[in-house]
Amino acid sequence: MRRIAKFAAGTALATLVAGAVHAQENSVEVLHWWTSGGEAAALNVLKENLEEQGIAWNDMPVAGGAGTNAMTVLRARVTSGDAPTAVQMLGFDIKEWADLGVVANLNDLAGEEGWAEVVPDALQEFSKYDGQWIAAPVNVHSTNWLWINGEAFDAYGGEEPQNLEELYAMLDAFKEQGLVPLAHGGQPWQDATLWENVVLSVGGIDFYRDAVINLDEEALSSDTMREVFDNMTRLAGYFDENFSGRDWNLASAMVIEGDAGAQQMGDWAKGEFLRADMTPGEDFVCMRFPGTQGDVLFNSDQFVMFEVGEASRDAQLAMASAVMDPGFQVAFNTVKGSVPARTDIEDTEFDACGKKGMAELAEAAENDALAGSLAHGHAQPSSVQEAFFDVITQHLNGQLSTDEALDRLPQAIAAAQ
Ligand code: BGC
Repeated sequence: MRRIAKFAAGTALATLVAGAVHAQENSVEVLHWWTSGGEAAALNVLKENLEEQGIAWNDMPVAGGAGTNAMTVLRARVTSGDAPTAVQMLGFDIKEWADLGVVANLNDLAGEEGWAEVVPDALQEFSKYDGQWIAAPVNVHSTNWLWINGEAFDAYGGEEPQNLEELYAMLDAFKEQGLVPLAHGGQPWQDATLWENVVLSVGGIDFYRDAVINLDEEALSSDTMREVFDNMTRLAGYFDENFSGRDWNLASAMVIEGDAGAQQMGDWAKGEFLRADMTPGEDFVCMRFPGTQGDVLFNSDQFVMFEVGEASRDAQLAMASAVMDPGFQVAFNTVKGSVPARTDIEDTEFDACGKKGMAELAEAAENDALAGSLAHGHAQPSSVQEAFFDVITQHLNGQLSTDEALDRLPQAIAAAQ
């Protein structure tokens, strides 16, 4: 309900936004949730690029992974007729804001720069609305990764676990090494990120599509789904007792500092490891979450441009153009942990994890093994996503048994639609 209400006042919003003329010439105000060390370092690449072009950057950070808080703040800004120039946004949220008629049209620029030829279809699905370009995709992230402390991994024997049973064996070994086996941040979006990895591992890509994308009732209450929830309970047994509410980057820090063995997280976690001067393959291991090799759950950060009036239009277009620039996409994504949102970029500048990410994304797209991340807004609209989050988090915190979760999930989803 919370997030459905966010989009309720469509027409009123459009009127208010049309009147907003606060933006200064040659400056952009950018709302985003990139507040961790690695994220801020990546954002700086964009800031500096624009500043070199004489465009001032007004920063509007809203802390909170996956953007849940950012979307709430955005609603308040747009409602008061003061939309930012550009907003970091994910998948279905883009569609929902576009529905309200408050976003700017980027068609001319996109046409001149040939975006349609280089942006993968899976992203264009969200960058365009009614055939019009409304957003510039800056990256492709994927959520089905496991990050492992290098020393702990070597001490374990250096064999990558290939399935959940092998993962449990490695986590048991980490426990014996005196580590927190699995660093986790208990926030609904992080719980759901882990859950979607487990769905993919236990059921495979077709089951993920049936349950999470097509919301097939049988899949949602199947024995496979029971296995998913049982595995969630088992994984929770490897968390430390302070996991509740922890930010994702603090969970990454536990792995970086050698207090924890591993973290399941999207590849923005790599930005934290790089910030700590760690080298992939030596100080840390990046691998696909066990049992999900060959499949990719993706999400893409896009900058949605809002209607802000003529005064800031040039700066806004310059920002969209900078975001889509091939050189910028390399400079940004090598720091952020993601891979480019364009298909025409070589992997030369990327580290081993980045090269792996780029190759696997291309292969998954070719093999029909690519699907949108639920936790990061690329599988369902926010109302349905919230319904999943509620059940997943309550189950992980022991407030729902597996039987209850299996009952509740299809009901909650039906009610949210
Ligand atoms: C975004 C990433 C971000 C992560 C954690 C994801 O939804 O796509 O860019 O780093 O959330 O904040």
